Amino acid sequence: MRGAAPVRWHALTRGREVLLTAGALCAVILVVTAILAVALPQPEREEAERGLPQLAGAHEIGLGVAVAVDPLTHDPDYQSVVTDNYTSVTAENAMKWEHVQPERYQFDWNGPDAVVDFAEHHGLDVHGHTLLWHNQQPSWLARGDWDTGELREVMREHMEALLGRYQGRITSWDVINEPFEDHGPRPRENLWYQVLGEDYIAEALSMAHEIDPAAKLYINEFGIEGGGAKTDAMYSLVTDLLDRGVPLHGIGFQGHFVHGNVPRDLAEHMRRFSDLGLEVTVSELDVRIPEPPREQALRQQEQEYQHVVQACLEVPRCMSVSVWGVSDQHSWIPEWFPGYTAALPFDEDYEPKPALDGMVEALSRRP
Ligand code: G3I
Repeated sequence: MRGAAPVRWHALTRGREVLLTAGALCAVILVVTAILAVALPQPEREEAERGLPQLAGAHEIGLGVAVAVDPLTHDPDYQSVVTDNYTSVTAENAMKWEHVQPERYQFDWNGPDAVVDFAEHHGLDVHGHTLLWHNQQPSWLARGDWDTGELREVMREHMEALLGRYQGRITSWDVINEPFEDHGPRPRENLWYQVLGEDYIAEALSMAHEIDPAAKLYINEFGIEGGGAKTDAMYSLVTDLLDRGVPLHGIGFQGHFVHGNVPRDLAEHMRRFSDLGLEVTVSELDVRIPEPPREQALRQQEQEYQHVVQACLEVPRCMSVSVWGVSDQHSWIPEWFPGYTAALPFDEDYEPKPALDGMVEALSRRP
């Protein structure tokens, strides 16, 4: 039986046979080329086809975004940015005390439910923000003449309502938000500090853990990302809490940065807390740029976003990077920092900016 004789060159010199063989050869070459064309650029094509959520998943980190209820429930473009690019959401304002319990014993679940329902419908995680904070308190709470027992009861009522309603649906909470003065290192003497005493943090964490034992409990702060007295004060607070067995699981590094001043040693400072066995996150990332945002600044912002995501990838137990807003149109920055703008990865028209490329670049490196 004739096997598959190797092609012998002299066989290719005969008339009709030559054409048939050459044609067959070309067909083989085309098929092989087609196979290689499909096979060879696999990594590049995969990268191109895999969006941010898939790239983040490959590194086992989350990508979050702060959301506002109105556009989340009414604006399809806003919704698409969230579902196409992120794996979790944080309610920018809807779960804060002034919105959840505007009057004592009167709870408004419309906003929180909208965020949680949207997240669950789209397979997104929800990070709870926030329980105890000095801002956005309803007037009945802020101006109450509370004694220790009364305020402790108020705290429990709120936690049982909010943590209880979303138990198992919201798996991590900012229990304590911004416990230090803006420029540190003194403790912020907020309502809780004044009435319950400086150990209110341990008390609140323990109460939250009693109400939802499965929830990961965080302290969330700004101004600790680049080291210094406030970072050291947070480290002292955290080590004391852990030494006493207080249920604390993570630290949120908010990451409200100014263009050109993103800490080069961000990973080092997150690692200090990660080395204690804690989870860490970049919880509220934005990089504000002076008006008008020039092309060069937007290009540099790409590197800054890449640097922050890369820092999270380098630190054990860094769980996620969350940006503080869906687009520059919805950013808190212009209202709070006049003269600054363009802080987020999507512009006013929901178009991706170089900052988004920076996040992709960091995540496109092999895990
Ligand atoms: O809800 C009212 C609305 O009824 C009214 O018409 C409107 C008039 O201006 O104000 C609305 O309230 C605004 C609220 O956001 C929306 O819920 C407040 O004026 C405004 O001050 C408030 O700003 C929020 C800020 O926290 C309050 O301190 C920002 O959106 C929010 O992005 C920002 O988020 C905080 C984090 O929770 C904690 N880390 C810092 C970060 C920036 O401050």
